[in-house]
Amino acid sequence: MEEVDEFLSSKLGTKEHWESTYELELSNFTSHGDIGDVWFGEDSMQRVVNWILESDVVKENSSILDIGCGNGAFLLCLASEGFDNLFGIDYCGTAIKLAEAIANSKKLDIKYETVDLLAEHKKSELAGRKYDITHDKGTYDTISLSPEDAETKRQQYIKEVYNLTKDQGLFIITSCNWTEEELISHVSDYFSVDEVIPTPTFSFGGKVGSVVTSIIFKKVVS
Ligand SMILES: C[S@@+](CC[C@H](N)C(=O)[O-])C[C@H]1O[C@@H](n2cnc3c(N)ncnc32)[C@H](O)[C@@H]1O
Repeated sequence: MEEVDEFLSSKLGTKEHWESTYELELSNFTSHGDIGDVWFGEDSMQRVVNWILESDVVKENSSILDIGCGNGAFLLCLASEGFDNLFGIDYCGTAIKLAEAIANSKKLDIKYETVDLLAEHKKSELAGRKYDITHDKGTYDTISLSPEDAETKRQQYIKEVYNLTKDQGLFIITSCNWTEEELISHVSDYFSVDEVIPTPTFSFGGKVGSVVTSIIFKKVVS
C-alpha cells in the first residue's frame, strides 16, 4: 500500500466533540423537532439514495448498515422509500438516542445500537454479523482526523468494514476529506470500484476537483 499523508488531527476526530454535538441536537429535537445536521448536505445524501433506488442489486429487504449513523438521516430516507432491514451504529450514545427518538416520532422501524466500530470486536455486538450494504458518510473522514494514531485506526476501520460486508455485498462511502483516487488506493486490498457517483466539480487554477466523493465498492473475495 502506498504511503499516505495523514491529516492534522482535529476535535472532529474525538468522541467528546460528537457527544457534545449530539447533546445539543437531542435537546433541539426534543424542544422543537429539529433533526439536526445532514453532513455534507442533503444533496450528497440524496445522490447515494438515488443510486440505491436505481440499482438492480439492492432490494427493499437488503440489509443495510450505516456506520457512524449520527441522527440517522440516511436510514430515515431509505425507510421512507420502503426499505425495511435497516441498522445504524454510532459510538455516541447520544446520537443513538437522537436517531431512535426521530425514527419513533415517524413510526419507522430502524434498529440502532451504540457501538464503537474500532472497539475490541470479540466483545462487540457486531461480531459475526454481515450486511448486504455497508454505508459511511463522514465517519471514515472523522476517524482520519483522530488525534491518536489516525493511520492505524483508518486501517483497522477498513478491515472491520470488510468483515461486516457480505461476500457479494457493497461498501458505499461518501467523503469530503479524501479524493476518489485516495479512497480507491486506501481500500484496494479489500474492495474494488463498482461505480463512482458523479458529484459536482469546481475548477481552480486550471485543476478540476470535487468537494465530495461518493464511491460504490465491491468486496474483493479471495
Ligand atoms: C461527520 S459525522 C457523520 C454522521 C452521519 N453519518 C451523517 O452523514 O450525518 C461522523 C459520525 O461518525 C461517528 N463515529 C466516529 N468514530 C466512530 C467509531 N469509531 N464508531 C462508530 N461511530 C463513529 C460520530 O459519532 C459521528 O456521528
